[in-house]
Amino acid sequence: MSQAQPTIDLAGKVAFVTGAGSGIGRSTALRFSQAGAAVMCADINADGAKVTAESINGTGGKAASLQLDVTDETAVEKSFQQTLDALGGFDILFNNAGVGGLDYEQTLNVNQNGVYYGLRHGAELLAQRGGGAIVNTASIAGLQGLVSPLDMLEGTEAGMIRDGGIAYIASKHAVVGMTRQYAIAYGQRGVRVNAVAPGYIDTPMTEIIRQDVQIQHEYEQLHPMGRLGRPEEIATAVVFLSSDAASFITGHTLPVDGGYSCR
Ligand SMILES: NC(=O)c1ccc[n+]([C@@H]2O[C@H](COP(=O)([O-])OP(=O)(O)OC[C@H]3O[C@@H](n4cnc5c(N)ncnc54)[C@H](O)[C@@H]3O)[C@@H](O)[C@H]2O)c1
Repeated sequence: MSQAQPTIDLAGKVAFVTGAGSGIGRSTALRFSQAGAAVMCADINADGAKVTAESINGTGGKAASLQLDVTDETAVEKSFQQTLDALGGFDILFNNAGVGGLDYEQTLNVNQNGVYYGLRHGAELLAQRGGGAIVNTASIAGLQGLVSPLDMLEGTEAGMIRDGGIAYIASKHAVVGMTRQYAIAYGQRGVRVNAVAPGYIDTPMTEIIRQDVQIQHEYEQLHPMGRLGRPEEIATAVVFLSSDAASFITGHTLPVDGGYSCR
């Protein structure tokens, strides 16, 4: 007996994506468009955001781009208004911009404060407009401590507490916590707030892993599925959590990690 397959239809919706100029953000912007949404592509890298928007507009979708540093709270608030002006709506927020490999302060500033500013102004605006969905990009680093094959090669276990490593872990745990708290605060005002927790994904952020075949293999083996993930695999989960197909899911952090967090 055949059953109708649920389809994800975001026609008429407007999605705002931070970090849209590369990797997971770009892939998700494209997926939002494929699902019918208009997309505001925001990134500190204006050229990257523009390329993503042009790619959407070039294939029959609707998108615009803007340069945005998510650590600038005033600019974050303003960018949501700019989206209303440019695309005529604001229904979905993907708080995705993030950094790895920077120092302690910068990592917390982008990964934690940046997500907080998006939640603070985005959740309120969505609620005022009658509801919507927010997805934050956490990480497996928001669910547990990490072992680092790079460290193993160096014969040390200290890498993840050096420099930005510990800030990355702290910031991603913060994203999981803020996801829960905002879900509670806005649950009765029509705004669902969820997160995705990617394993290691093949994006520019993880380029260093792929520079050495042995190191890449070690990272792949940390995932029970024996490989790194693809940005499209995160994008699909984000689009699901943003859609009515996830209408009773809020406050949840969904691992998309090939089983990494099972161990
Ligand atoms: N790639 C992975 O293995 C992996 C795993 C878990 C979580 N993540 C998270 O996924 C998100 C996306 O990472 P990615 O892998 O696509 O990396 P990426 O480096 O390809 O993309 C990150 C994007 O964020 C932008 N950005 C950086 N700082 C910004 C700022 N202050 N304001 C606005 N934009 C800024 C960059 O310009 C870039 O376009 C990040 O939050 C990252 O921590 C990635």
